[in-house]
Amino acid sequence: MKAAVVGAGGLGGYFGSRLVAAGHDVRFVARGAHLEALRKDGLTVRDPDGTVSVTPVDATGDTREAGPCDLVLLAVKTWQLGPAIEALPPLLGPDTAVVTLQNGVEAPEQVAGAVGRAAVLPGVAKVIAQLDGPGRIRHVGGAGSLVVGEWDGTGTERVRRLRAALEDAAVPSPAVTDIWAELWAKFLFVVPFGSLGAAADGGFGELRSRAGTRRLLADAMREVERLAHAAGVALPADIVDTTLDFVDRQPAAGTSSLQRDLLAGTPSELDAWTGSVVRLGARHGVPTPIHSLLYEVLGVREDRAAAGAARPATGTGR
Ligand SMILES: NC(=O)c1ccc[n+]([C@@H]2O[C@H](COP(=O)([O-])OP(=O)(O)OC[C@H]3O[C@@H](n4cnc5c(N)ncnc54)[C@H](OP(=O)(O)O)[C@@H]3O)[C@@H](O)[C@H]2O)c1
Repeated sequence: MKAAVVGAGGLGGYFGSRLVAAGHDVRFVARGAHLEALRKDGLTVRDPDGTVSVTPVDATGDTREAGPCDLVLLAVKTWQLGPAIEALPPLLGPDTAVVTLQNGVEAPEQVAGAVGRAAVLPGVAKVIAQLDGPGRIRHVGGAGSLVVGEWDGTGTERVRRLRAALEDAAVPSPAVTDIWAELWAKFLFVVPFGSLGAAADGGFGELRSRAGTRRLLADAMREVERLAHAAGVALPADIVDTTLDFVDRQPAAGTSSLQRDLLAGTPSELDAWTGSVVRLGARHGVPTPIHSLLYEVLGVREDRAAAGAARPATGTGR
């Protein structure tokens, strides 16, 4: 399979390295010092057990050099999607699947607006991998998974082929019947935890063990649950309980990328996470008081980061 990874950071670099190891022809689209390091030294991945692998990779800063691919893993942050989408056309052939890997529920539609729904496969990545410096990725936690599905849930040959390629590359890719339910289930976990964690500057341990923050976490999850219901997405009836169980099993010090980015003063995915809950709540007539408050409070930090990074602030009321 010929694949391109657009945004070869933590997530894209990790999945891309797995596909290379399985013998696939992968082009890594990157930029700056990361691109230089990939070209010069290859891609270094440090696994949780300390194993370090260095893979020579085919890296480029220009999608025109890569040409049409069977698969595009789109792995930039949500706020980086605009230019990344503009760079997609040279990678697209008649049967190319563009897999969106962003947390949040709006990226597939945003990408489809440019390349058409038929080209987009929404994906849900459950793995933790971070950029550790130019050319270096740190994989934390377990093997994780990457699930993909057609918009309407039909089982297609391209989904079967992609799942087989991922499984072959030691990336578990279980079959799913409703990719939107998968996306929203992750949304229900990551947004309440990320937003509350960022506001409190606390990890799993602190948030789940204080009665007040645990209640807030559960109530924020219920806001997303009601929103999913209003949006016509069928989540399991016990989704809040099972998500809280999942929170209880995580390492006490674990935090979200939203929290880390906001507290580091770098641009974050606040708009696509918390902001998205607020926007969709307004659209569907579902009150989202907890997320609305968190969005505005965290927006102060986000605006400072946006000003530092010279990019426009986004969101409501700011
Ligand atoms: N990391 C995870 O474990 C994980 C798990 C599940 C879901 N996700 C989701 O996956 C998405 C990516 O997260 P991440 O942690 O992998 O982010 P990341 O480590 O910051 O990687 C994004 C990479 O894309 C590059 N990039 C951005 N725009 C580009 C462009 N136009 N051309 C070429 N390269 C470009 C960035 O380069 P610069 O540094 O130069 O901007 C960076 O190297 C997010 O939406 C996140 O929520 C991540």
